[in-house]
Amino acid sequence: MDRRQFISHSFATAGSALLAGRGFAAEASVPLEQVPGAVMPAEIGRARFPDGFMWGLATASYQVEGAWNEDGKGESIWDRFSHTVGKIRGGATGDVACDQYHLYPQDIAILKRLHMKSYRFSISWPRIQPAGTGAPNQKGLDHYKRFVDALLEAEIRPFCTLYHWDLPQALEDRGGWPNRDLGGFFADYAGILAKNLGDRITVWAPFNMPWSFTYLGYGVGVFPPGKADYQQFLKAAHTVNLAQGEAFRAIKAASTKATVGSAYGMAPAYPKTDSDADRAAAARYHAMNNVYFLETAMHGRYPKAFVGEIPYEAMGFRPGDDQIMKVPLDWIGFHYYTRRIVSDASDASHPGSDGSFGTEIEDTAGGRDPYTRFRAVMPTEGPLTDGGLEVWPHGIYDLVMQITREYNRPIIEITESGCSYLDAPYEKENGRVPDPRRIEFFREELAELVRAIADGANVGAFHAWSLLDNFEWADGYSQRYGLTYVDFRDQKRTVKDSGLWYGRVAAANRLDV
Ligand code: BGC
Ligand code: BGC
Ligand code: BGC
Repeated sequence: MDRRQFISHSFATAGSALLAGRGFAAEASVPLEQVPGAVMPAEIGRARFPDGFMWGLATASYQVEGAWNEDGKGESIWDRFSHTVGKIRGGATGDVACDQYHLYPQDIAILKRLHMKSYRFSISWPRIQPAGTGAPNQKGLDHYKRFVDALLEAEIRPFCTLYHWDLPQALEDRGGWPNRDLGGFFADYAGILAKNLGDRITVWAPFNMPWSFTYLGYGVGVFPPGKADYQQFLKAAHTVNLAQGEAFRAIKAASTKATVGSAYGMAPAYPKTDSDADRAAAARYHAMNNVYFLETAMHGRYPKAFVGEIPYEAMGFRPGDDQIMKVPLDWIGFHYYTRRIVSDASDASHPGSDGSFGTEIEDTAGGRDPYTRFRAVMPTEGPLTDGGLEVWPHGIYDLVMQITREYNRPIIEITESGCSYLDAPYEKENGRVPDPRRIEFFREELAELVRAIADGANVGAFHAWSLLDNFEWADGYSQRYGLTYVDFRDQKRTVKDSGLWYGRVAAANRLDV
């Protein structure tokens, strides 16, 4: 494989093939009680969540809705990407996905049956503005009004993400996120949503995982639009920071009931050694991957993610931008999947002179890029999921406590966490889906989360990813993150054993159910 293929491959599989091949089997036999941070059953038995804790499940429009060209919806960059041969495993597309656009009453019935109090979903921008600007498409708005009313009827809080990666293709054709104009267009879209849905929806997150879609889309090109240029990433990320601030104001202006937060992807970063250089590298990882869109909102400044000066010029930063970015988020939402071990690469020569840069999980000699100069790897000390991610329950404790310290005990919402396991219906058990590893994953992780709450973190909600097995981006349908199994031949849903367990946890507010 050449370097570019290597990058696409490692991201198409979230590193799975790559890491699974690393002789992990020997390490996997480490007994649980020897794994640092493992939570013992007695502690799990005592764990109690606070009254009013919001149990939830999450999905995203392109991953579940289908109906890709119905009711006036425009084309998104994920439609274009998945319709391009060779981009998605198995040639899969989100054309139908879980068909939630039509089957949402069934899905809301599952949420209700599982005692869910919150459903985190995203709205597809090209359903609302097919070309990304201009008057809204009434049919798109009507769909989400009906959908949100059905959630409210079931007494489930609608948690709306405005953007989970499905940019109108027409806006990509105008330059995409590196084009600063998108900040204003996004604010217009946010205002339309708040004006039309702000009587029903009070919880809004502008962007899902802004680092991922800007870096993977414009920095290394493994997500649409497939561009690989670090300067484009810097510009895209700056536009998104401006857009976040402008959307915050547009939502608040249109709806007095609105609270606005975030849905960032985060991974706790542990320095590889105790050296000052590795500690500083871990801090740069945290600044770039975890808080690059949070520090800007809360303090109107970029965090220290770079070895040298902050490259304001390359970003396209203009005087006054600090004031545009600065908005006091009402709560901080982030996902936790896995952790990173980070080391310094500031002295090594960077090999990316061919214009390519390392991806998130890549151990290249010169570090990921010439600006942040660190190497980040996903360790394989804990067991790996079928999606190839290391299971490390203690990571959520460290991450929640770190954000609690750094941002003065904010209200935290866990916007996603989950694992892919390929368990399928078991005929001998009447078609049940026994998925004990997923139950274990959540039980251990939630025990760490409740410990963080006991230690002072103000965590109000947890959303498991995902309500349904769904379109897993570049992996197509080859990964299954759902707590509900979906048979994509006939759209039949079967709640997995983990879903039933999670429903009992939600009803009881404790883990020994
Ligand atoms: C996976 C995505 C994931 C993204 C960000 C990709 O490799 O396919 O599902 O969200 O990485 O971590
Ligand atoms: C910090 C550690 C912290 C870890 C995980 C690192 O960057 O140096 O103190 O435990 O992140 O949050
Ligand atoms: C993304 C989801 C994705 C999940 C699993 C998350 O980071 O927000 O869209 O399906 O990771 O990879």
